[in-house]
Amino acid sequence: MKLPVTIITILTTIFINEVTPLNILGVFPYQGRSHFFVFEPYLRELAARGHNVTVITHFPQKTPVKNYQDISLAGTSIQVEGLIPVEKSYFTLIMIGVYLIGTGTDNCKALLANDNVQKLWKSEAKFDVVLVEQFNSDCSLGLAHKLGAPVIGLTSHTLMPWQLNRFGVEFNPSYVSTQFLSGGTKPSLFERIERVIVYNIFNTAFKYASQRTDESTLREYFDDVPPLEELAQNIRVQLVYTHHTLSGVNLYPPKIVEVNGYHVAKPKPLPEKLKKFIDEAEHGVIYVSFGSMLKAASTPRDKLEAITKALSQLPQRVIFKWEEKTLPGDYKNIYISDWLPQNDILAHPNVVAFYSHCGLLGTTEAIYHGVPIVGMPIFGDQPSNAAAMEESGMGVQIQTTELTTEKLLEKFKIVLDPQFRANVKRLSKVWHDRPSSPMDTAIYWTEYVARNPNFTFVPPTVHVPFYQFWCLDVLAVFILISLISFYVLKFLCCLVCRRKSKEVVKNANTKKKSKKDN
Ligand SMILES: *[C@@H]1O[C@H](CO)[C@@H](O)[C@H](O)[C@H]1NC(C)=O
Ligand SMILES: *[C@@H]1O[C@H](CO)[C@@H](O)[C@H](O)[C@H]1NC(C)=O
Repeated sequence: MKLPVTIITILTTIFINEVTPLNILGVFPYQGRSHFFVFEPYLRELAARGHNVTVITHFPQKTPVKNYQDISLAGTSIQVEGLIPVEKSYFTLIMIGVYLIGTGTDNCKALLANDNVQKLWKSEAKFDVVLVEQFNSDCSLGLAHKLGAPVIGLTSHTLMPWQLNRFGVEFNPSYVSTQFLSGGTKPSLFERIERVIVYNIFNTAFKYASQRTDESTLREYFDDVPPLEELAQNIRVQLVYTHHTLSGVNLYPPKIVEVNGYHVAKPKPLPEKLKKFIDEAEHGVIYVSFGSMLKAASTPRDKLEAITKALSQLPQRVIFKWEEKTLPGDYKNIYISDWLPQNDILAHPNVVAFYSHCGLLGTTEAIYHGVPIVGMPIFGDQPSNAAAMEESGMGVQIQTTELTTEKLLEKFKIVLDPQFRANVKRLSKVWHDRPSSPMDTAIYWTEYVARNPNFTFVPPTVHVPFYQFWCLDVLAVFILISLISFYVLKFLCCLVCRRKSKEVVKNANTKKKSKKDN
């Protein structure tokens, strides 16, 4: 008993000496479980390091955590898991846009109407930093402004299209990949046109349908509500849940910090039945999961049959996350369950491939353990995640539209190749190799913002007008000069020509004249 107490005392003394406890507020009005699943370990770690953490969330802690208090929003919005069919289309894309903006503005109303949230700002509580999820609404930025604290943005995914501008990240369709769309960093002409259209539609919709609505909701409670876009530009540090080895190399300004990977916990022992199934797999195991948001059971039957047919022809054993008791088709090698400890499975050395929808959490766990991916992206950031992981050499992608048994077998053949797998292990090693762990990085920048509350490093691109950004005015001047030069030259040429021709005529006339005289 004595030793742990001493260790705790020493650790506490170290922390008390080294870090001044900060008053931290986290605002998470979005009800996506997979989002909060990313933020939670970081919030708990802040509390564990002695900071006073208050969290507005749909997912309050089940057992009390020291230095951590919840303001619960549970029950104020519908849960969204398992709602989206496994099918990629423009229709799904539009529905997602409508859904994102609709829930964002609804959540804003629910957040501000909450009694405990109102108590918080009416008590004029002082916070050193406010952590705000950057997703489908900027409402929380208004609350943070009211509280007068510097803001740290958090995402559990790559940046949304409407978040590039505020951070000064250049949207160039030629190489900047766009959430919702495939194409990666080498898009075709069609994909570039698609990007321009989708980017502009989503940004316009976000500005007018989301930000304007949230601003008027905020005005019902607060007198002073600056434009939300302005508050967004003033975010001190943005922690994005990406890493360039996995999500591709981006041109990010210094205030964007990549912290991909801190949610991955140390693997726990597997349930006995599952462990035996994996241990005894002579040729290894393929793990199949399409995440918690997608409903595997609503996958079109012909596609599903193509999948099971391909999997049943492989020598590997298969673990398939599936909500129903059985899968259609004829197979002996597939283990079905509606709940599976994904990270613990991927950590098992016998797991040789991961057939995934390319959600960022799953792909992160895969690179953590060095398991190659066959990615079948559907919606949200999945298409851009899939394109990026394919470019990085983590795996290959297959689109639902091209899904056949033969095509899928072809893809598995690529990732199951020993050389390919060895390369993924090397990539995993690079991913792990950083100056500080993703968790330490996230905490460092949180404390940094509290230590330096008066500095915002806004990239100049944020304030450069569109026409200057693309140098359209410079181009216009050059075109004008070229045109003027062309016409001046033409005019001069004409003058010379005319004079010459006059001389020729004159000469000819003189010649004629002299002939006559002769
Ligand atoms: C922690 O934060 C809460 C506000 O959520 C506040 O009521 C409480 O006094 C703070 N505790 C300390 C020790 O600062
Ligand atoms: C930030 O600026 C305010 C007012 O200019 C000043 O009172 C405060 O001490 C500054 N804070 C830090 C940590 O420098």
